[in-house]
Amino acid sequence: MRVVSGIQPTGNLHLGNYLGAIRNWVRMQDDMQDGGQCLFFLADLHAISMPHDPAQLRAGTLEMVAALVACGIDYDRSILFNQTQVPAHAELQWLLNGTARMGWLNRMTQFKDKSGKNREGASVALFSYPVLQAADVLLYQATHVPVGDDQKQHLELARDIAQKFNNDFCAEDAPLFTLPEPYIPPQAARIMSLRDGSAKMSKSDVSEMSRIDLVDDADTILKKIKKAKTDPEPLPSEEAGLDGRPEALNLVTIYSAITGQSVEKILSEFGGEGFGKFKPALAEVLVETLAPINARFLELKDDRESLDAILARGAAKARELASPTLSATYDALGLVRG
Ligand code: TYM
Repeated sequence: MRVVSGIQPTGNLHLGNYLGAIRNWVRMQDDMQDGGQCLFFLADLHAISMPHDPAQLRAGTLEMVAALVACGIDYDRSILFNQTQVPAHAELQWLLNGTARMGWLNRMTQFKDKSGKNREGASVALFSYPVLQAADVLLYQATHVPVGDDQKQHLELARDIAQKFNNDFCAEDAPLFTLPEPYIPPQAARIMSLRDGSAKMSKSDVSEMSRIDLVDDADTILKKIKKAKTDPEPLPSEEAGLDGRPEALNLVTIYSAITGQSVEKILSEFGGEGFGKFKPALAEVLVETLAPINARFLELKDDRESLDAILARGAAKARELASPTLSATYDALGLVRG
């Protein structure tokens, strides 16, 4: 089993990232059997696909390392690195650009969302971003990729690219690339904004009140949950009663994902109650889970030397693992490396 996943080091790690992806990274790392390997990386090359501030990207990269370690990523057991220090990611992307089809990329909803009405003004990197994401996982022959629901389409594309490359350039009994399986948490695939139950919780939302950041202290969490948008109805006693109530559903989903309790059980306790009772209970379980992460993050975040060393060590291991697949890709394409 080879687990590979990434996160963009732009902005803070938020509850959606944590419940949708990072918590599964930690679980998969902790359950990994002998012979398996987890690779987790900061997708800093992806971050330049949108307008960005270089100083913030540099600082955000180190902060994200601290945040991931605070969440439980163990850099002795897992390989933790940033793409920039492993040039094979960018090299493989170029090689796969020959296989990816314009029509496939044209269908990517994230490109449509992020470019909005200004497609002509979007960067080429934003358009070809999913090919880099395919390279990220194919480079390591990933078998499982733990992500939130919003990344599913990109992983399907990675599978299509792998399949076409194997068909076009490899013998039938010797495919080069493993087809990666997305692993999406059943309960917390999509955590929504606290201000709008129809939009996903996102670091690019201008309103900080729309998300819980993992670095928020207890008072901030309480304030954000108290101000979270809801409707005037009390909570229902049955799950079906959450239909058409996206904000209520989101808060119950978060409670369920954090505590591991089923939605049914939560509604049997809170059904008939207003949000005046449910919100403080939700804030309490959030603080309980996030306070130790927050404390560890604060301890680590300014230790520049240690954070640099973690990345350097991870990158050295990743470069080694990446090398055979990259060489085989050049060979399969008839490119002479000397
Ligand atoms: P990114 O940085 O936007 O998010 C990191 C992870 O968090 C998940 N996530 C969510 N899950 C549930 N609810 C939400 N509101 C929510 N918001 C974010 C994402 O699904 C993701 O798993 N393109 C990727 C990074 C990437 C990558 C890869 C991932 C680059 N290469 C290779 C996997 C494999 C991204 O921008 O994720």
